[in-house]
Amino acid sequence: MLTPGEEKIDTSNLPAHIAVIMDGNGRWARQQGAMRIFGHHHGIKAVKDTVEASAELGIKYLTLYTFSTENWNRPKMEVDGIMQLLVTTISAEVPELHKNNVKLKAIGDIASLPTKAKRQLQDGIDLTKNNTGLTLILALSYSGKWDILQATKAIVEKVKSGELETDDITEQTFSAHLATEETPDVDLLIRTGGDHRISNYLLWQSAYAELLFLDDIFWPDFRKKDLIEAIAEFQRRERRFGKTGDQVKN
Ligand code: FPP
Repeated sequence: MLTPGEEKIDTSNLPAHIAVIMDGNGRWARQQGAMRIFGHHHGIKAVKDTVEASAELGIKYLTLYTFSTENWNRPKMEVDGIMQLLVTTISAEVPELHKNNVKLKAIGDIASLPTKAKRQLQDGIDLTKNNTGLTLILALSYSGKWDILQATKAIVEKVKSGELETDDITEQTFSAHLATEETPDVDLLIRTGGDHRISNYLLWQSAYAELLFLDDIFWPDFRKKDLIEAIAEFQRRERRFGKTGDQVKN
């Protein structure tokens, strides 16, 4: 069965990797006169819709910016609330993800997460590791600069131990040491909430991503139809990768 609106997109030309900056939860809650955490709770419905639609459409990789390195600087009550929400959401949703053949992964400084969150996450990753459908990657305690630094350190260690020659370090070698490992680069980066910035997300991996900033929608209101509209916009763009328009048309 077609997802409503699916006829708008060409399913033979889907972005392989969609990354999302789920912004605007706090402002959405404030609009309702509620605490910021209320917005994060409502963000879960948008996460579920997006994951479900991505799996149905045949998207291979979906990376969600769930908690950035910089988010640790938020008030403790909000950080604790998000971590709690992470635990309850993962434990509630992993069986459904598994049933739908979704593979769960996480990138970021996972060691810095609370023990309970780490455990839930690892259980979900272990359970779904052989699934072959959508790969859902949660970016947790993640930042692009953190990722580039950890990859650099890992490469330096290999050069020091003689496992790798400096001259053999290519873009491919570097990519393989990023937390995203073998995941293809981001094709489409969507940010809700009206801000037009990358906020230290997948910096290396988004080098040629199509950027889509949604001005009129906060994350808790994002639904399948918005994902489909975003993919339709992606398909209207001409991706030239530094070549001329004539070259890519031929
Ligand atoms: C950004 O909105 C949102 C976050 C920092 C947290 C996102 C977390 C969730 C949606 C819940 C957990 C998700 C999963 C996958 C289990 P903001 O707080 O910066 O909003 P604002 O810009 O309006 O202040």
